[in-house]
Order: sequence, then structure tokens, then C-alpha cells
Amino acid sequence: MDERKGRLTKDGIRIYQDADHAGMHAAGKLAATILDDIAQHVFVGQTTGEIDRIITQMVEDAGARSATIGYKGYQHASCISMNHVVCHGIPGDKKLKDGDILNIDVTVIVDGWFGDTSRMYVAGKLSRKSERLIQVTHDALFKGIEAVKPGNTFGDIGYAIQTYVEAHRMSVVRDFCGHGLGRVFHAPPNVLHYGRAGTGPVLEEGMFFTIEPMVNLGRPETKVLADDWTAVTRDKSLSAQFEHSVGITANGVEIFTLSPAGTFHPTYGE
Ligand code: MF3
Ligand code: CO
Ligand code: CO
Repeated sequence: MDERKGRLTKDGIRIYQDADHAGMHAAGKLAATILDDIAQHVFVGQTTGEIDRIITQMVEDAGARSATIGYKGYQHASCISMNHVVCHGIPGDKKLKDGDILNIDVTVIVDGWFGDTSRMYVAGKLSRKSERLIQVTHDALFKGIEAVKPGNTFGDIGYAIQTYVEAHRMSVVRDFCGHGLGRVFHAPPNVLHYGRAGTGPVLEEGMFFTIEPMVNLGRPETKVLADDWTAVTRDKSLSAQFEHSVGITANGVEIFTLSPAGTFHPTYGE
């Protein structure tokens, strides 16, 4: 038993044990598989409520549990955030229209481990400006992931994401962040998608967390609608998001929520 493992850091971040990676891998794989399989159900005329119903069934069929049903009163197995919705969009009976872009975010619990991932989808034909937003957001997530290795800091992750996004004249949302996870859904630290290099807690082997940048074509400010969940861009500009759950290994990073079908990016394989 390694005494450095299974403790909390001074910032309250849990250091998981080597064997725990397998639990996260299983949970992450199920969440990613559900996002792979839901792609065929995203089309013009489909409702987000029906997509969520199918996801609920997929979680049940896998013998797993949804982490979001019952979470702070939330009642759905997914968040579906369309167009200018930044995150926490509530599935409903609105039909998808040609050119709508949507983020589907699923968190499952498998044997007590949490797998949390989201990606972008399109109904019908993708416009050039939506395609650009989705590409930059996807690549920004991977800029963040590339900064994950022992000895770097959480500020290095935020810095990598922010500089990449702003170089493309888009903006990073400040009002929502990634989070530690593992045997719990949301734990320290807050994983900011902006910041200064070299600041924040030092990254250590055994930390598990999400990186989930939200990127807007316009300004970064958001507001939450009267339903107390739906976050939208204040300037109504389009927003996109991608999320992976990751763990720090001895010399780098393990992505728990890799797409088994290789379809994490919506236009791959076309
Ligand atoms: N999956 C979201 C995240 O990335 C959290 C959704 S909480 C919900 O952290 F209640 F809105 F579903
Ligand atoms: Co998350
Ligand atoms: Co999520």
C-alpha cells in the first residue's frame, strides 16, 4: 500500500489509488459509449426530451445509474444545451431545426464511480461559423488535456485553454468550471478554463477531474433562466462545450471518457 495514495492534499483534492483507475475507466467508457450511440438519434424534427428518454433507457440497460437524476432536484439523465445555451439545458419537447448545434452531457455511476462527458452534435447541416466554434472548442479541451502532467498546475490547464480560444477571437465562459470527481460527482478543485500559468494547486498522480470548457462566439457573460438551470449567453451568441473525465498518471494523463467509436468530434468519419 502506497502511503502517498488515498489522501487529501492541502487543497482538499483526493489522491486516488492505482486500482481506482479501473473503476473510473469503466464508468467513463459507459458514458462515452452512450454519447457514441445517441448520435443516430440526433436529427431535424427530433425532440431533446426524446433524446433524454433514450439516454435514460441506455443507462438502465447497462445496469448503471444516472448521476444527474435527483441531483439538486434535476430530473433528467442528460443536459442538452442548444445554440446559445451554454450548459445545463433541460431536455423538453422542442424539435431540433436544421443547423441547430447541441451539447449532450451525460454522467453515469458504475460501481460507485462517476463518468462525466459531453460533446457537440448537429441537426442537419452544420454552418461554417458553428463548425469553427465546435472545432476551436474541441481543440481547446485538448490543449488543456496536453497540460495535464505531474508537476504542472491547474493554472497551466486554464492558461492553455484561454490563450488558444482567445487567439481565435472567441471567449471562454468564466461562470462554470470543471471539477474533481471519482466516488463523488463534484469535488475539489474547481478546474478553471482560464487563468495564469504556474498558479493554482500542483497536479499530482492520482488526481481525477473533468475539463469541460465552454466557448462563446461573442462575449463570455452568461445568465441563468427562470427555470434555475438553463445557462445562456447574455449576448445570445452561440456557445459550445466538450468535456472529458481524466486522471493523472505517473508521467501524463489518462482520458477515462474516450469514445470507443472514435466519434468524440462530430465531424470525424465524414
Ligand atoms: N454533467 C454536468 C457537469 O459536467 C453537471 C450536470 S448537473 C445537472 O458537471 F444537474 F445539471 F445535471
Ligand atoms: Co462535469
Ligand atoms: Co458533464
